[in-house]
Amino acid sequence: MKILVATEKPFAAAAVNGIRKIVEEAGHELALLEKYTDKAQLLEAVADADALIVRSDKVTAEVIAAAPNLKIVVRAGAGFDNLDLAACSERRIVAMNTPGQNSNAVAELAIAMMIFMSRNQFTPGTGCEIQGRKLGIQAYGNVGRLVAAKAKALGMEVMAYDPFVPAEKMQEEGVVPAESLEQMYGQCNFISLHIPAVPATIGSINYDLISRMPKGGCLVNTARKEVINEAELVKVLTDRPDLKYITDIAAVCQEELNQKFCKQVFATPKKMGAETAEANINAGLAAARQICGYFETGCTKFQLNKW
Ligand code: 3PG
Repeated sequence: MKILVATEKPFAAAAVNGIRKIVEEAGHELALLEKYTDKAQLLEAVADADALIVRSDKVTAEVIAAAPNLKIVVRAGAGFDNLDLAACSERRIVAMNTPGQNSNAVAELAIAMMIFMSRNQFTPGTGCEIQGRKLGIQAYGNVGRLVAAKAKALGMEVMAYDPFVPAEKMQEEGVVPAESLEQMYGQCNFISLHIPAVPATIGSINYDLISRMPKGGCLVNTARKEVINEAELVKVLTDRPDLKYITDIAAVCQEELNQKFCKQVFATPKKMGAETAEANINAGLAAARQICGYFETGCTKFQLNKW
């Protein structure tokens, strides 16, 4: 089988070498399309692929249509909003992600972002410490739990809101379950977002929530830009010059944000949450193993779509 790794933002070399080893030892062939700049390159590369590994690369209905042999696509990472699951299902193409594999890298970045904003983006002046501050985790999944554990080790008080996780589980881990988002935003100096971009969350982080944050509050986004209501973010940053926003996924209106609120906002130049050698290796190798396992035994653990 031909397994294509198509990554606009490439994996570390060690991850590619590891993927190659797994693929070739299982008797398959590896094809690489890295740092591509045009969708046409992806459409051409998938033409003879039996399997596809991607990162945030968009696997649209057009890409699926250009890949007549495709049997399985694995998103090496957690969020799968870049996969057209309906188009995959229509062709009975198995779609998977690799949950948890890059979570630690993202969690470390979220902590770093809190410190960076507390120290005035590393510019001269008096900042503040995160020890003793209150952190609210929005969504207590793989990343949220790791952020909570690290924040607790740094002396923060941690609360979390997740309607899908029992309160007892949070309590067992020393995290206070929030009764509502409104309550959590109203009490926390930092809010760290770990929600996926799905219809229920898109545009949901709005004026009403952000404006509840206490004086000097900071919103940390290592999730997705789509969850932010950008027009309302602009309004709340205007009305509350004490509030801060740091993101790993530049807003559509990032230029406006940078110009109007340079002391209040910061965006990484390119999404870097999962950009560690460890995360690349964990997620890339897991994707390769999941594909080889599917071809060998039909294993569909981590399948996202159903038909
Ligand atoms: C994920 O959903 O796993 C992260 O957002 C990482 O995305 P990336 O592979 O594009 O860095």
